[in-house]
Amino acid sequence: MRGTTVITGADGYLGRRLAAALLDDGDDELILAVRAASAAELADKQQRLARELGPDAVGRTRCVAVDVRHDDLLADVDPGVVTRIVHAAAVTRFNVERDLADAVNVAGTVRLRDFADRCAHLRRFALLSTLYAAGSRQGDIAEEPSVPTGFVNHYEWSKWAAEEHLLDAADRLPVSVLRLPTIIADDDSGRVTQYNVFHNTLKLFHYGLLSLLPGDERTPLSLATAAFTVSAVTRLLDPAVADGVYHVCPGPERTPALGELVDTAFTVFARDAGFRRRGLLRPVPCDRESFDDLLQAATGLSAGPLHQSLASVSPFAAQLYLPKTFRNEALRAAWPGYAAPDPHALTEAVCTRLVASKWGRRPEETS
Ligand SMILES: NC(=O)c1ccc[n+]([C@@H]2O[C@H](COP(=O)([O-])OP(=O)(O)OC[C@H]3O[C@@H](n4cnc5c(N)ncnc54)[C@H](OP(=O)(O)O)[C@@H]3O)[C@@H](O)[C@H]2O)c1
Repeated sequence: MRGTTVITGADGYLGRRLAAALLDDGDDELILAVRAASAAELADKQQRLARELGPDAVGRTRCVAVDVRHDDLLADVDPGVVTRIVHAAAVTRFNVERDLADAVNVAGTVRLRDFADRCAHLRRFALLSTLYAAGSRQGDIAEEPSVPTGFVNHYEWSKWAAEEHLLDAADRLPVSVLRLPTIIADDDSGRVTQYNVFHNTLKLFHYGLLSLLPGDERTPLSLATAAFTVSAVTRLLDPAVADGVYHVCPGPERTPALGELVDTAFTVFARDAGFRRRGLLRPVPCDRESFDDLLQAATGLSAGPLHQSLASVSPFAAQLYLPKTFRNEALRAAWPGYAAPDPHALTEAVCTRLVASKWGRRPEETS
């Protein structure tokens, strides 16, 4: 039966890829909810999405302006036709301020949930969350509601709080919480179009701006591609799949340790003549206190590349001292096509491209 899927954050990194995947998978009409402060911004975002989604989108997509901070969100969408909601909109910076995280990530999810309560034919409400909704917990983390013991930044806290608000409604709504890992590339080719703490930390190492390695080298780091993530989410949006909490990530056997990732990165860096000329050594692991001292010293530096990069790394660094393993049995059982990327091959491909493109400063070759 043809349904209607609402995607919030539809022009975000994952939102637009998900929209493309859902155009390919089934025949739902898609309501693409984007944040737009004016008619001109909406028209601009609409055009960009139309270009990206191509002819398949014609007649099957509608762009609407939605700011999840506003109570009347989706006012021009008939709740009676909506069969699925994918809530991808969020402020995704790890250094997001608490008030903003609360207003967008938490209260915004509650507003979406209130809209969902009016959708009589809703068959799935999926929240894109993060594995780090587990906060400061260590050890095995199961696909179930989190019982956190604290958080290292407001982003994590806000995603956990959003999960809680949705899971509270699981007795009346078909809620799925899809916890995502760190996405380091678009696909197995290693192409990077969204830069995050992973890429920024490697940049500091490559240019010799950071000689300390924050974290315990044994800490597992769950990494994936957008292609893997979007395929998994598409599968989990199928109303035939049970709702619930899913870790949309590779299993423990495909989750490398921090130290292994650094080794892979330095093997790739060593192939670069410029890197070899700098004669840099692999960074030395440091304890939490020493890294905090470094951050303290860096706050005195005026805004520049080092300051900016450290600002991106620091709100996540504490997680590198809190080893945890994310179980994904529910994902595997629900997704017969499950095939996680090889983390070492992926890291090697990503590092190779980062070095070649100088972290996006040199245009990527088209392939
Ligand atoms: N990518 C990852 O590695 C990753 C990992 C774990 C979890 N996730 C989760 O996956 C989801 C999608 O992530 P992403 O990487 O696609 O993020 P993204 O590229 O930053 O996209 C976020 C989207 O949310 C929109 N948004 C922000 N504030 C809004 C507001 N007040 N009202 C309505 N829309 C608003 C943004 O619009 P503007 O650009 O106009 O602000 C953008 O379209 C997020 O919920 C994130 O927490 C992502």
